[in-house]
Amino acid sequence: MANLVLYRKYRPQTFAEIIGQEHIVQTLTNAISSGMISHAYLFGGPRGTGKTTLARLLAKAVNCQNRKDGECEPCNKCPSCTEIMEGRSMDLIEIDAASHRGIDEVRELRDGIRFAPTKSKYKVFIIDECHQLSKDAANALLKTLEEPPSHAIFVLATTEIHKMIPTIISRCQRFDFRKLTVPEIIRRLEIISEKEKVKIEKAALELIALNSGGSIRDSESLLDQVLTFSGTLGQKTEIRAEDIKDLLGLVEINLVSQFTDFLSENKAPEAINFLNELTEKGLDLQEFTKALINYLRQALILKIIGIKAEDPIISGLTKEEFQKLQKQASDFKEEKLRQILNLFLEAENKMRYSSIPQLPLELAIIEALKIEEE
Ligand SMILES: Nc1ncnc2c1ncn2[C@@H]1O[C@H](COP(=O)(O)OP(=O)(O)OP(=O)(O)O)[C@@H](O)[C@H]1O
Ligand SMILES: [Mg+2]
Ligand SMILES: [Zn+2]
Repeated sequence: MANLVLYRKYRPQTFAEIIGQEHIVQTLTNAISSGMISHAYLFGGPRGTGKTTLARLLAKAVNCQNRKDGECEPCNKCPSCTEIMEGRSMDLIEIDAASHRGIDEVRELRDGIRFAPTKSKYKVFIIDECHQLSKDAANALLKTLEEPPSHAIFVLATTEIHKMIPTIISRCQRFDFRKLTVPEIIRRLEIISEKEKVKIEKAALELIALNSGGSIRDSESLLDQVLTFSGTLGQKTEIRAEDIKDLLGLVEINLVSQFTDFLSENKAPEAINFLNELTEKGLDLQEFTKALINYLRQALILKIIGIKAEDPIISGLTKEEFQKLQKQASDFKEEKLRQILNLFLEAENKMRYSSIPQLPLELAIIEALKIEEE
């Protein structure tokens, strides 16, 4: 088990372990415990949010030999459960539409589906990235969904539900997965680091969570990197946010905050020099701009609705950093802040095509300082 990547090692094996997606878990577990299973489910939503995990859990629960009526959790001990967990069940068929466009698989599925499951109650078909099925395969699937045999359950999973044919969507019970929030991701990372017996401060987990884009899988991969790296620090030391900022390629919030000061104090030469010095030191300007935009956004939101430090929009800042941000937000006029934000958003776009990466930023600085303060 030791060198399994975290997200495989810790794939939830019970519904209770799933973080977020409450309404989906609720509806599925109700269906399982009451025996009212649909024949076709559609799981749509961003990557790494639990679609495959819940599809496999469903397969396990409906076929578990120890599960009693009225219960929903699989036992994870019976032959059916263990076969599924070890990936060798004959009655759980996973088709990856992305790799083969699924023609042969779906044909096989159409021919094979009439046969009852070998050992279990249900045959479960999980079709991943099903928006990528070829037209023929999708039509074949549609035929099958029109009259699914009572022993079949389909779970179609996709990150791009808008690319699915409507006739397929309308034959499925649809669940929309959502991105996970920063506190939810932190909760998950805490559980894993505890199981891995590593000491890591909350601020470090917060940094990881903030950089996962709402995907638990991505957060677990980042944690993996951090743990590999911290192996070089020695076991006993606690991993701190400071230690991993570079590793995650993160831009120091202090740099962004200092730059924001130059903007609010109308110090164009200082701002431009500052940027050039950073570039010489090898700072990734694209990352810097991203961080800056996020920072200015926080300032704007803070100014308009006055959120608290615990708010997820703000999380990732220390108490001192938050106080500094608050001060900057109140120093700026709302209109100026809004315009500056727009200028740097534009600059971010232009940077991709500019032969001199800092030029769009420099222009934005100059424009920003021309904004009239009423
Ligand atoms: N809601 C969740 N609760 C707990 N762990 C999760 C959740 N979502 C994802 N994970 C973790 O991330 C890993 C990957 O999740 P999963 O394979 O279910 O994602 P997915 O939605 O199918 O993503 P993709 O669209 O990329 O296939 C899981 O093994 C698990 O460790
Ligand atoms: Mg998946
Ligand atoms: Zn079981």
